[in-house]
Amino acid sequence: MSVTSMPLETASASELVKDRLLRVIPAVEFATFADDIDAIARLKTEQDAVILAHNYMTPEIFHGVADIVGDSLALAREAQAVEAGTIVLAGVHFMAETAKLLNPAKRVLLPDLRSGCSLAESITVADIEVLRAKHPGVPVVTYVNTSAAVKAASDICCTSGNAVAVIESLGVDRVIMIPDQYLAANIAAQTGVEVITHPGACEVHEKFTPGDIEQIREDHPGVVVLAHPECPPEVVAAADSSGSTAQMNAFVVDNRPAKVALITECSMSDNIAANNPDVEMVRPCNLCPHMKRNTLSAIRRSLETGSHEVHVDPALAQPARRAIERMLEL
Ligand code: 13P
Ligand code: SF4
Repeated sequence: MSVTSMPLETASASELVKDRLLRVIPAVEFATFADDIDAIARLKTEQDAVILAHNYMTPEIFHGVADIVGDSLALAREAQAVEAGTIVLAGVHFMAETAKLLNPAKRVLLPDLRSGCSLAESITVADIEVLRAKHPGVPVVTYVNTSAAVKAASDICCTSGNAVAVIESLGVDRVIMIPDQYLAANIAAQTGVEVITHPGACEVHEKFTPGDIEQIREDHPGVVVLAHPECPPEVVAAADSSGSTAQMNAFVVDNRPAKVALITECSMSDNIAANNPDVEMVRPCNLCPHMKRNTLSAIRRSLETGSHEVHVDPALAQPARRAIERMLEL
């Protein structure tokens, strides 16, 4: 019996997602995932847990076991509203820390503690102190891709989805926007606000070049190119539009281009393709090694053993939370 004709109450978790997953992964691979998908569904109920998954998760996580998916902004908002006792954050460390800050009574688990981020690694509190000393009175806008300590030393956070709104809300001519030099340059171009930044970069998006986009256009006439704002400004300028991962997804769903190329992490295209079989995805991509630490077996182990629980230093929690909440209030 195919899953579509099977009564829903008798279908297993893996059977329910099989048709969608088979659009983007081979049947032989699906067979190796089914046991973990079913075990994770059972464990979520036993552990009163929900899985929040970033858009860069592989399809078997994104479509197979996630309860809530989205960009960094959506995951922060959703984490705040979770009622279950445990949040498993299928993403990277700063996302789990943000969830813990926004919903401190919950147990927050990160399946692999090595899931870092080149942007979060690029900046320390001492760097912010140097910038503040050099530019007294200039507000510090910090990308969420940072540690709780760096957030605590900042005035307000932003994500790629709301950076323009955050900068404009401050009503100032100059801001310190850290740590992504490319996001800062891209936002400066959109707002007209002078942006002082820091030499951080996303190791995934900084690899793309305008030449990549030229080649894609040559090979796929008529393709619509969407670039993440963590890409260098010349890459964003060569694209048709730019936005956060959620904004890219919304663009595809709303505009249904015949062919689209997403200049971002690899799994985005797979996840959008599974939901939009009528849109042809051109797949230039760079893998994020940190996001890819999340696997079904790591998530299963996390639920089985309670590893790895994320805590935030209580001395940092209040100021870090204030910087995130100022952003969410906008
Ligand atoms: P968004 O999903 O917020 O666009 O962020 C992309 C990213 O690189 C997260 O690490
Ligand atoms: Fe960090 Fe870039 Fe990976 Fe996102 S994609 S977690 S910004 S290294």
